Amino acid sequence: MSLYIGIDLGTSAVKLLLVDGEGVIRNSVTKEYPLIIPAPGWSEQKPEEWWNACLTGVNELLEGFDRSDVAGIGAGGQMHGLVILDENDQVIRPAILWNDGRTAEEVDYLNETIGRETISGYTANIAFAGFTAPKILWMKKHEPENFARIKKIMLPKDYVNYKLTGVHSCDYSDASGMLLLDVKNKCWSPEMLAICDVKEAQMPKLFESYEVIGNVTPEAAKAFGIPETVKVVAGAGDNAAAAIGTGVTGNGSCNISLGTSGTIFISSDEFGECAGNALHAFAHADGGFHLMGCMLSAASCNKWFCEEILKTKDYAGEQADITDEKLGRNRVFFLPYLMGERSPINDTDARGTFTGITMDNTRADLLQAVLEGVTFAIRDSLEEAKKIGLHIESSRLCGGGARSPLWRKIMANIMNFTLEIPQSEEGPGYGGAMLAMVGCGEYASVKECADALVHVTDRIEPDPEIAARYEERYQKFRKIYPTMKALFKEIK
Ligand code: XUL
Repeated sequence: MSLYIGIDLGTSAVKLLLVDGEGVIRNSVTKEYPLIIPAPGWSEQKPEEWWNACLTGVNELLEGFDRSDVAGIGAGGQMHGLVILDENDQVIRPAILWNDGRTAEEVDYLNETIGRETISGYTANIAFAGFTAPKILWMKKHEPENFARIKKIMLPKDYVNYKLTGVHSCDYSDASGMLLLDVKNKCWSPEMLAICDVKEAQMPKLFESYEVIGNVTPEAAKAFGIPETVKVVAGAGDNAAAAIGTGVTGNGSCNISLGTSGTIFISSDEFGECAGNALHAFAHADGGFHLMGCMLSAASCNKWFCEEILKTKDYAGEQADITDEKLGRNRVFFLPYLMGERSPINDTDARGTFTGITMDNTRADLLQAVLEGVTFAIRDSLEEAKKIGLHIESSRLCGGGARSPLWRKIMANIMNFTLEIPQSEEGPGYGGAMLAMVGCGEYASVKECADALVHVTDRIEPDPEIAARYEERYQKFRKIYPTMKALFKEIK
């Protein structure tokens, strides 16, 4: 049976999956790499480290398997990161990542000087600090010598695809987050390229996520011991890939991802925008579109609180004291803006806070506040979707945070809808492998592949009493950030 490699090029690690044509995960390998924080609120990574992690990781992944069975590779990758190559296709400087907040000035220039309506008219979106176009403007101003050497601009997973195939490619879902794509018409926006002083020749070729960009190069085939006939598909931004991996395709279905970032992803066959651009309007990996809210620190808040503050990796143990009785009754609130925030508040100066602590509070109360604060912040994006008339009755859930039964319960009750847990929480990697299957002809369409392979294994219904308690708490949570907003600017 043919085998497919799904790559999830994340922020803390690359997660690799080996999946067979029937959708069974046959092996998985995770390889971590460091995050570089050159200044507070900045965030970078070396593309060479991504590739090295793939090189060792894929070899480990294939150990004990017949490598000649490998037919295709598909990647989902952290979005928005600016990767720049010189005329010899060498990386010019470390990539500036999706959660980097250095571009406040460039964001103001795009949204205020050029104007939100104009930018939104070109791209269907407004500027956010993590998006790629403001980073290009930042580079032009602060690193003109690097800017002058740029031959190709690409996104993180496209660098891995380039190393695999020698082809400079990008898919529509990931390209949407560059603020250089005319999302509705699925082509580079000539106006935005001009604003950023970039030529179309510097941009990669655009593909649908499930389209084959090329075969692996002889060097890549040799490095992995796989046949030169192995096909590589364009892949997708990690959220679109995760949505495919959880079976979220077509009209009106929803996926929530609790990874380093937290996202709510609403899929649609037709192009649509959100009033005021509170949610991103992007292309989907199934050939359609989606709206998405993205918060910058989600499961990473839990990781930070447990590992940095409580000095433990026993996540489940720390959650054991948080019983149903306590849900919706916590008087401590947590603002999860540890890296500033994107959706829906778009504020690089926003910061994390604990509010309402009293002497009787325990470490469990603070941890509960962290899980709740992240979930309330995702609810903020759901509220934006409701404002434009979207009615969401259920959502799939994936990402590392989805493994916690407690967090699942908190999520179902704060969102007040049914949560469906698919057989694997490895959304982007599984979605990447599925896109490769479609590219290799195992399935006729992404939807057909998702219908055949993705199964819901658990459903969590909200409990009316707990949901009512959370509703009351959420209305209080909503007041905290507006009260703090001006102060955040002052104390930065
Ligand atoms: C989405 C976003 C994040 C990254 C994380 O807009 O910035 O979800 O893709 O990997």
